[in-house]
Amino acid sequence: MRGLVLSGGKGTRLRPITFTSAKQLLPIANKPVLFYCLEQLAEAGVTDVGIVVGETKAEIREAVGDGSRFGIKATYIEQDSPAGLAHAVMVSEHFLKDDPFIMVLGDNLLRDGVISIVREFHDKPTNCQILLTKVKNPNQFGVAELRDGKVIRLVEKPKEFISDLALVGVYLFDRNVFKAVKAIKPSLRGELEITDAIQWLLTNGYTVRPHLVTGWWKDTGRLEDILEANRMVLDGIEDKHLGKIDERSRVEFKVFLAEGTIVENSVIRGPVAVGPGTRIVDSFVGPFTSIAGGCTIKGVEVEHSIILEGCKIEGAGARIIDSLMGRNVVIRQGDGQPRAYQFMLGDYSGITLP
Ligand code: G1P
Repeated sequence: MRGLVLSGGKGTRLRPITFTSAKQLLPIANKPVLFYCLEQLAEAGVTDVGIVVGETKAEIREAVGDGSRFGIKATYIEQDSPAGLAHAVMVSEHFLKDDPFIMVLGDNLLRDGVISIVREFHDKPTNCQILLTKVKNPNQFGVAELRDGKVIRLVEKPKEFISDLALVGVYLFDRNVFKAVKAIKPSLRGELEITDAIQWLLTNGYTVRPHLVTGWWKDTGRLEDILEANRMVLDGIEDKHLGKIDERSRVEFKVFLAEGTIVENSVIRGPVAVGPGTRIVDSFVGPFTSIAGGCTIKGVEVEHSIILEGCKIEGAGARIIDSLMGRNVVIRQGDGQPRAYQFMLGDYSGITLP
């Protein structure tokens, strides 16, 4: 079986971060979402993996390389426009050939990985297998309607309620899917939808088998989802301190401190992950926070947030919560005259003031 990982798309719901970074490379507990996908494919024995890339191809290539450090062989497939998931399948036909394949969205995180799903598809082959899970906001996903355990209808982003079973971003296909992706027309949002391709398979007599996901799953397309995924992954983090903690500091519960981290006169209350070389001084770092490497956190209270590489956060009037900061962000305390906020924000930045 081959693997297909989709890593194109613009990530408009995560601007301004995605102006300079591919959404699939945003870190969850200091590791890019895409890396979890690649590791899970390797674990399931899927080692021949096509990675579909778009505008951010240089960055994805640089991060993943030939794939050997994840235990896979990566082949890059260019999709010249983000024309939909079914379009991504279409442009990958030369790589997938006649083999059955598992397609994974590179910004989706599945707690239990794909070992059992790959095994099920291998032992009981079918034309298509979809993964489903109950969601509260089905109008934001593709959904499937089941009757007596069988899929009877699929709709992408349904305006009216038909089912709360959302399509998780993991799909398994045999080569009949190529007929489907060539037969369908673009949706109202102008994309060739994989949901429509699967509906085409159903309509034309092919078998679509549902698999209900039990462990959590997260599409990390929006800030709330990224923070939630970060919470879920940090929950299982290893308590390991590879850095230096001085005697005035307290590090409580599960905290992963990478090599070269320095903690001085601070409290870190896990679950928390801190990347290499980051300094935390005179600060409180609260639960569910990931701070990447090379940061300085001084005189700050922060919790339930994700901070990327190289940020310098020195002093803040109030506790920082529910935040996502891109690379090399600088926040510092002014000299108090006048008492005012001063901003330099990129396009589409978001700020919530107390
Ligand atoms: C895509 C699919 C949708 C699926 C979702 C899972 O949505 O079109 O059917 O439920 O991924 O993450 P999009 O992220 O393009 O809105």
